[in-house]
Amino acid sequence: MDSGYSEVSTLRRRSLRDFLKSKFPNVDPFALPKKAKIIGHVALVRFQGEGIDLGELGKAVAEFYPRVRTVLRLHGIAGRLREPVVELMYGDPNTETIHKEYGYKFMLDVSKLMLCLGNSYERLRTARSVRHGETVVDMFAGIGQFSIPCAVLSKPSKVYAIEINEEAYRYLRVNVAINKVEGVVEPLLGDCKELTPALGRIADRIIMGYFGGTIEALPAALGAVKPEGATIHFHEVVKRGTGKDELWNEISELCFRLGYTSTLLGSRIVKSYSATREHVVIEFKVKPTKGLS
Ligand SMILES: C[S@@+](CC[C@H](N)C(=O)[O-])C[C@H]1O[C@@H](n2cnc3c(N)ncnc32)[C@H](O)[C@@H]1O
Repeated sequence: MDSGYSEVSTLRRRSLRDFLKSKFPNVDPFALPKKAKIIGHVALVRFQGEGIDLGELGKAVAEFYPRVRTVLRLHGIAGRLREPVVELMYGDPNTETIHKEYGYKFMLDVSKLMLCLGNSYERLRTARSVRHGETVVDMFAGIGQFSIPCAVLSKPSKVYAIEINEEAYRYLRVNVAINKVEGVVEPLLGDCKELTPALGRIADRIIMGYFGGTIEALPAALGAVKPEGATIHFHEVVKRGTGKDELWNEISELCFRLGYTSTLLGSRIVKSYSATREHVVIEFKVKPTKGLS
């Protein structure tokens, strides 16, 4: 179990930890949370300290962030579906909330689903790269982290948003409605490894926003590429330094073996993931080398 969450610090001059230090003078400062991740009215905090009164600590966190009504302790992110493991520390037990960024909104239940704030610029950047009239396939759609910005900020003709987790799919549908992109974003419930090739050769752009084995879904992605080619946004967590180049070698070799040319368009570090690993995105163009059957 690990944390895919990036944390945000408040813009106040005083840090959360400094504030908490003054409230809990007898607690080791390093046992207190350094920052919080704020999603709508909910604050999520991570800390190592044991024996601290969770209710009192949660109340102090809520005092520091005036819009926060609920404080959750985040223990980590678990499993293939990357679900948060949380504990209510303080406040309103209703953890369903709305996060707003760059003109679109995401509704979610923070106790059940994750939203990485450290990816917000990548969501914007990806949406801006979508061209008028494109057909986009978002293979790991979540609650619409990429599909919604693409539909709200650009003018694709269609975004197929595939999600396997029923809870995420439910919020994906809600987010399509609250962002008024019905008819553009089509949510599909199921495994993208089956549903993507089943769409046929329709994709101008494919978003693979997942990590921990994204390469396993590449053959399925290639199955939806238009005969004239498509752009793929491929996310993965790799080791710092050489990891991105090694990943690109792996991707291009697999494309070659499956009968596709692959041309690197660009790559970037989305965010730091741990001391030794980083979340990267590689953007490349693929095209079938021979006629397609
Ligand atoms: C880490 S979240 C990322 C969401 C979004 N793409 C982003 O990058 O912010 C990955 C999502 O992929 C979904 N997922 C995992 N395996 C899947 C599969 N085989 N088919 C469709 N969705 C899948 C999970 O349920 C989860 O909602």
